[in-house]
Amino acid sequence: MQYSKRALALSPSNTLAISALAQKLSAQGREIINLSTGEPDFDTPQIIKEDAIKAIQEGKSKYTAVSGILPLREAIAQKLLRENALNYSPNEIIISNGAKHSLFNAMCAILNPQDEVLIPSPYWVSYPEIVKFCQATPIFIPTTQEQDFKITPQSLRDSITPRTKLLILNSPSNPTGSLYTQAELEALGEVLKGSDIWVISDEIYEKLVYEDGFVSLASLSSDLLERTITINGLSKSSAMTGWRMGYLASKDSTLLSCIDNLQSNSTSNINSFTQFASIRAFKLDAEIKAMRDEFRARRDIAHKLCSSIPSLSLNCPKGAFYLFVNIQQAARFGGDSMKFSQALLEEQGVALVPGVAFGMDGYVRMSFATSIEMLIKGLEKIDLFLQSNA
Ligand SMILES: Cc1ncc(COP(=O)(O)O)c(C=O)c1O
Repeated sequence: MQYSKRALALSPSNTLAISALAQKLSAQGREIINLSTGEPDFDTPQIIKEDAIKAIQEGKSKYTAVSGILPLREAIAQKLLRENALNYSPNEIIISNGAKHSLFNAMCAILNPQDEVLIPSPYWVSYPEIVKFCQATPIFIPTTQEQDFKITPQSLRDSITPRTKLLILNSPSNPTGSLYTQAELEALGEVLKGSDIWVISDEIYEKLVYEDGFVSLASLSSDLLERTITINGLSKSSAMTGWRMGYLASKDSTLLSCIDNLQSNSTSNINSFTQFASIRAFKLDAEIKAMRDEFRARRDIAHKLCSSIPSLSLNCPKGAFYLFVNIQQAARFGGDSMKFSQALLEEQGVALVPGVAFGMDGYVRMSFATSIEMLIKGLEKIDLFLQSNA
């Protein structure tokens, strides 16, 4: 049998591979402290669930417009204006099956073979895979812990070639939690001025920012508004990972109609009752703030405990729910994040994600989307692990 070369070239997500190993050990009766997860541990707010049930009972279970029902696109347009200073009409918004699907659609609509896509490294695992699936080439822009894992105008300028088609920015970042300031985004925008380079701004962790200062890239100038595809969704902000609600917004009508056609010939609209229930999520400020406050408390404890372990070093994440921890001083492993993560899981039952999965060996990602009790226990075990492997 013959298969698609593009499909065969896709790598499985390493983040999922580690949680699968953790689940296997736990099924064998081992106590596992899972600090590898990429989703909030909170339940979806009750009122959103009730709205979904109501929608089912009212028979709202038919096909909808491919890009999503108008009241939901209106709610998103209002949110973007109110919170992000972005003026999009509902017709400039397309709802898809999670932000991942929006990313996939956007890249399918703009990339051609041989195009180059700039991806700051470390990066979220799916970016290069989607780029490769589109037969384009990921070009990684390295960053350092000293720069808080952010690219600079110079590193961006140095990476641009005549083939550069797209830059992907993710602030706050998975896996590092770093957040670009308005001045930093403006400076990157200056580098792009006069070019035909698109930008995808993945703002999925927008609501999980622990200091002032989240800024939507497209709000900074008309030049950035034209070239930016803003991507967001409800997975992380409203504890709705399984509901599959993501969206993109763009000013480019050709791009929007390409994506609409792509989606109408693949998935069509997302689940109808997810759409009806999602309208509510844009009005739940108090619930979202309560989750963010809890995440902030966890971040503070996890960062303090982790920083006190002598052979580890890390920055304090400004957003998202991950610590990106430097393990290069853990002598036995020589900075090999995969060996480190496997040994930690086998010896102490703590699951982290090796940095190599995000394109940066020498680091591990620790999620604080779990209880404070689990974080304290997990960090005690990591300390023990490092002492016994000193
Ligand atoms: C940076 C980033 N973008 C996008 C996504 C996808 O989110 P969704 O569940 O909306 O597809 C994730 C999920 O882990 C993520 O970390």
